[in-house]
Amino acid sequence: MLAIARARFEREGHRHVQVRLGDIYALPFSDGSADLVTIHQVLHFLDDPGRALMEARRVLSPEGAC
Ligand SMILES: C[S@@+](CC[C@H](N)C(=O)[O-])C[C@H]1O[C@@H](n2cnc3c(N)ncnc32)[C@H](O)[C@@H]1O
Repeated sequence: MLAIARARFEREGHRHVQVRLGDIYALPFSDGSADLVTIHQVLHFLDDPGRALMEARRVLSPEGAC
C-alpha cells in the first residue's frame, strides 16, 4: 500500500510528500507537530480506537484540524 502511494505521488509530481509506516498508537511525530490528522477506514478495525484518537490529538497542533 505504501509503495502504491509513493509511486502515485511520484507519478503526479508531488515531490514534497513523504509516506511513512508507523503505529497508530505511537505516531512517529512530536507533540503538536501536525496541521492535519486524517484517519480513514482504520478506527473500526482497532481494539482501542479511543487510544488512537488520543494519539492523534497528541500530535495535532492547537490550530490543527482533525
Ligand atoms: C482497511 S485498511 C485502510 C487503509 C487506508 N487508510 C485507506 O483508507 O485506504 C486498514 C489499515 O489499517 C492499518 N492498521 C491496522 N492497525 C494499525 C495500527 N496499529 N497502526 C497503524 N496502522 C494500522 C492496516 O495495516 C491497514 O492498512
